[in-house]
Amino acid sequence: MSINCDPRIMRASSSRPLKGEVSIPGDKSISHRSLILGALAIGQTRITGLLEGQDVLDTARAMVGFGAQVEKVEGGEWYVEGVGVGGFAEPETVVDCGNSGTGVRLIMGAMATTPINVTFTGDHSLNSRPMGRVTDPLSKFGVATFGRSKGRLPMTIVGARSPIPIQYTVPVPSAQVKSALLLAGLNVPGDTIITETEKTRDHTERMLSSFGAEIKVEDYSNRRLITLSGYSELKGQNVRVPSDPSSAAFPICAAITIEGSDILVPNITLNETRAGLFTTLIEMGANLSFENEREESGEPVADIRACFSPDLQGIEVPPERAASMIDEYPILAVVAANASGETKMRGVRELRVKESDRIDAMAKGLRSNGVSVDEGEDWWIVKGNGAGSVKGGSTCQTFLDHRIAMSFLILGLSSQKYIDIDDCSPINTSFPNFIQLMRELGANLEARG
Ligand code: S3P
Repeated sequence: MSINCDPRIMRASSSRPLKGEVSIPGDKSISHRSLILGALAIGQTRITGLLEGQDVLDTARAMVGFGAQVEKVEGGEWYVEGVGVGGFAEPETVVDCGNSGTGVRLIMGAMATTPINVTFTGDHSLNSRPMGRVTDPLSKFGVATFGRSKGRLPMTIVGARSPIPIQYTVPVPSAQVKSALLLAGLNVPGDTIITETEKTRDHTERMLSSFGAEIKVEDYSNRRLITLSGYSELKGQNVRVPSDPSSAAFPICAAITIEGSDILVPNITLNETRAGLFTTLIEMGANLSFENEREESGEPVADIRACFSPDLQGIEVPPERAASMIDEYPILAVVAANASGETKMRGVRELRVKESDRIDAMAKGLRSNGVSVDEGEDWWIVKGNGAGSVKGGSTCQTFLDHRIAMSFLILGLSSQKYIDIDDCSPINTSFPNFIQLMRELGANLEARG
């Protein structure tokens, strides 16, 4: 599946009110995990609502390379026939994870304690990102890695022949690192104990438990301790992937910033490790409400109504909230540009090592469209122009980063002049039908030559 992105330049212009209901594709994090755990399980895993973005399709192809059977059937369901923990075969070719940091890091963990040699690569963005945060702790299991300088891809991983369990405190708030280590711990005798000092998304822990792994999570005021017993057998499951709150953030923030808008976004998880943006928007004065709150597949879920919010105020976003909204800072900056006063975002060093340096990418595009931004290594401040007062008129670079591309398109819908992005193709990695869905709500998006 791909978006209509030829030519790649896309223009967003002042839009009529957004109205209607929008069904958001499946959660990217949960989609990757369902394929990987399905491949590591014995028996069949049935997945409904899988995100069919390029990142996840790359993970599906990788699982086939390791020997799992992965198939999409008519009606949109996916089936994975797993090979069991420790059953990964050595792929015949290089594993290309495209743009996906989650894909490559989780797969590295999943193969690391099986005695196979695997070479990983990705696109220009992924090959620039740090892998040492995963490969350093993996080496404690007995894994050897040979990559480019600064721990970058392409990289070959020599899986451990006689892996030993580890105890490790993750030094950066990263669900990818935590998850890679837990997946590696599956094929190790004894307990792997991972500590995180900032809570990050917990989909791996939840899914491992539902696949039958022996896993214990202990929450303390200043840390979370996760103990995984190795050699537990995983059994294929039915996985229903909920809609992705990180994708839902785009139409929701569009509705908040476009005069007269009123939209409903059903079936969004309010898992506390993912919902920081919604708390932040409400503190800024956004007109958001949660309807039909319920529990589905162990996740708290609600339908979110978002309406135009003319009196948004800049706030200071607490650093301890960063992990629960780490992918939402670019779109928060768009809302902040439409607010009065300053929005201060601190403790966000991790934004500099995402698909792009997101502080730099957003600061450049915001400034070129008339919004002031101050920035430091782990903080930035957006100085709001007020509702509908962003000048626009310029082209933003997207740096192979889907969330930068979508953020600037949303900004263009409420700005005084159009905003162009240089390349809309990265959107396909996480939200393939973004342009179509936004247009159906009333967004003024047009492909340019
Ligand atoms: C993800 C974790 C986060 C997030 C990414 C998805 C995951 O990355 O930014 O989009 O699915 O585990 P980090 O682990 O680097 O924070």
